[in-house]
Amino acid sequence: MKKRPIIIDTDPGIDDAIALAIALFSEELDIRLISTVAGNVGLEKTTNNALKLLTFWGKAVPVARGADRPLLAAPTNAEDVHGASGMDGYNFPDPDRSNLLTEHAVNAIYKTLNESAEKITLVPIGPLTNIALLLRMYPGVKEKIEAVVLMGGSVTRGNKGVMSEFNMACDPEAARIVFESGLPLVMAPLDVGRRALVHPEDAARIKSMGRTGEMIYALLQHYRSGDINRGLKMYDSCAVAYLLRPEMFEVAETYVAVETTGTLTAGTTVVDLKGYLKQRPNAKVCVDINGAVFRDWLLSALKRCP
Ligand code: BDR
Ligand code: CA
Repeated sequence: MKKRPIIIDTDPGIDDAIALAIALFSEELDIRLISTVAGNVGLEKTTNNALKLLTFWGKAVPVARGADRPLLAAPTNAEDVHGASGMDGYNFPDPDRSNLLTEHAVNAIYKTLNESAEKITLVPIGPLTNIALLLRMYPGVKEKIEAVVLMGGSVTRGNKGVMSEFNMACDPEAARIVFESGLPLVMAPLDVGRRALVHPEDAARIKSMGRTGEMIYALLQHYRSGDINRGLKMYDSCAVAYLLRPEMFEVAETYVAVETTGTLTAGTTVVDLKGYLKQRPNAKVCVDINGAVFRDWLLSALKRCP
């Protein structure tokens, strides 16, 4: 089978780790590069966490360290959700650093795109700082990007601010650059992540899935997006789910603006489903998900991991 080439831009992050597990062991995806960004925790930690995961699985995907802060916004984090390390709950050994490139993620993404014979899909599951910098530094590289399939934003309300989702709220200006880029965009927002749940019986099944299952189960004990009894929210896996099984989503093609100036709402994605703003659609927004199909898909995808 011809694999779809992707670059994952990430801030691991417990739900990032699960999304990476699924993508790394999918027969349909070819991860050309993992780029890291400051988000859930600082850049050194997110980079180290990406390397720890690759070492755990013995995978030799190149990792490039990216932006250590948002373009303009004050740095923040989500240690309350993922723990101080970003992946609390499992004792990973020191990672093999031979997968770490010396060049900055923006240059590594550019090079990976430029050297590829086919277009590549970008899959950002953290703040959009690296992607915005890429588009500003190398605008011509857009023609090598198949699409941007991202986790972030919200159709309704937020999880960082009242209205803003964490990844967008971390770096509103970067989000605006990406949404105004004209690239084919797919947005998997909070609204679907909130229905992409792992319940206690799912966690028990994950635990029985061998080494990876035990590791993910241990991380889930420390993950604070939702609670295990009402369901833990698998936000970042929604972007990977869209790549692999888009039919589980209901999608609306619409205009999305990113608020950057609101004193209470910076980082809010204004999803204009009713066309008030009279703008052409710039994104496909996942507005609903079949939660039962997602759950079965997630479990069978994780089962593939050794
Ligand atoms: C997003 O914020 C992060 O904490 C998660 O990893 C996910 O990417 C959800 O708002
Ligand atoms: Ca993330």
